[in-house]
Amino acid sequence: IAGPSSLDMARAFRSIRADPLSFLTEVTERYGDVVSFPVPGPPALLVSDPDGARQVLQTSARHWGKQTVQYAALARVTGPGLLASSEPTWLEHRRLAAPAFHHQRLLAVGHQVGAAADAAVSGLRGAGPGTPMDVAALTHRIGLDAVGRALFSTDLSGHAQRLLDATSEAATLVVRLGRSVLPTATWAPTPTNVRLRATRRRLAAISADLIAERRRRGAHGDDLLGLLLASGLSDTQISDELVTMVIAGHETVAAALAWTLMLLAEDQPAQDRVRAELAGHDGPVSLLGHRETLPWTRAVVDEALRLYPPAWALSRRSTRDDVVAGHPVPAGTLVIVSPWLVHRRAETWADPLAFRPQRFLGAGATLPGYLPFGQGPRLCIGREFALGEMVVVLSRLLTAYRVDVPHGWSRPRPEAQVAVHPRGGMPLLVSPLA
Ligand code: HEM
Repeated sequence: IAGPSSLDMARAFRSIRADPLSFLTEVTERYGDVVSFPVPGPPALLVSDPDGARQVLQTSARHWGKQTVQYAALARVTGPGLLASSEPTWLEHRRLAAPAFHHQRLLAVGHQVGAAADAAVSGLRGAGPGTPMDVAALTHRIGLDAVGRALFSTDLSGHAQRLLDATSEAATLVVRLGRSVLPTATWAPTPTNVRLRATRRRLAAISADLIAERRRRGAHGDDLLGLLLASGLSDTQISDELVTMVIAGHETVAAALAWTLMLLAEDQPAQDRVRAELAGHDGPVSLLGHRETLPWTRAVVDEALRLYPPAWALSRRSTRDDVVAGHPVPAGTLVIVSPWLVHRRAETWADPLAFRPQRFLGAGATLPGYLPFGQGPRLCIGREFALGEMVVVLSRLLTAYRVDVPHGWSRPRPEAQVAVHPRGGMPLLVSPLA
């Protein structure tokens, strides 16, 4: 299997760390759908062929685990929460958390997500025509607020700054640990380890406050926090799951919404069509069923997640010999699947870099080569919630405001952190509708 040499990698070292998306794009353009990296021991492969991706994530998922640097880094920050954990803990916790994301529950909490969006949108009142604004900061607040209200039945506003600071520090550390070349002993007093311990303590203190507050109010309920508290898990385990949900659930949606607003600001006819569709919609927008009730708005969200998938790299390690995209690989092989690359593959998508929501109109639930939420048993547990939240937030924002790009516009660079963020924020112009 072809791929860059050790010398190429050494030469590109700085740019790989600074901008992994460009590096992965370049090697895929150069070597094709399966790229081999020069590492000692079992192979490390970048797989962008949709069938190969499906096999690793879905068909042969039982033999591909999460014992990778990426998830080890995450686990050092979040503890073994749902996203980073492995069997048997993973399955037990997934079953515990699942009812918080069932359809009935999502229908019941739609108004909470709407309230989170309204709270942020009401902050725009008084904005004049063409007010410059970092919409990424706005969507961040909404993302956090929605998780708090809908999943923890908690108003996080009292904790918001603490949480945003601690989770953004946590995200920085996950990225730093995931990209470190040499594994360092976890006990060594390196600057990263010292920061890590401090961040874990801060996150644990916030979780402890949330848990204590909830116990005071009465622990039971159908929301995620209620389920966790009733489950018999220890407070540390509950805290790990809370931190996981906050990190996995707000950064991703916030980034996805910022990119969606950018694409709509660049394409006014597409934005007008969202507004026209919303004007014809009866009653409040719920979290489910948009493919039927608001097909264009939903297609906009699907297409934005194709072009800017927040989860840009998924990693797995094989537990036995297998064949991937026609190549036999030994046990211990590392595979990286990058939704970013798969979604921009010219063999799968016509005119892949163009924003064309119509490609999703009338499309079924799954298109081959489309995996913003992963695939198979480890599919995102928050998928329906996130899609619903995105449509609800767009509905609240775009019925009251128009977004435009400023004069002399150039797109912010995508920055691969825990999610793909717009580097330096998303500076758009917001105007109230008459
Ligand atoms: C898993 C993406 C929103 C919680 C995943 C995975 C992806 C993903 C790709 C699979 C990771 C893998 O296979 O290695 C996204 C995107 C989102 C989003 C793009 C928003 C647009 C959310 C939300 C929550 C959430 C809102 C919770 C509130 C989780 C959890 C997992 C997960 C707990 C691990 C599931 C498991 O392994 O059982 N997400 N996610 N995500 N996501 Fe999301």
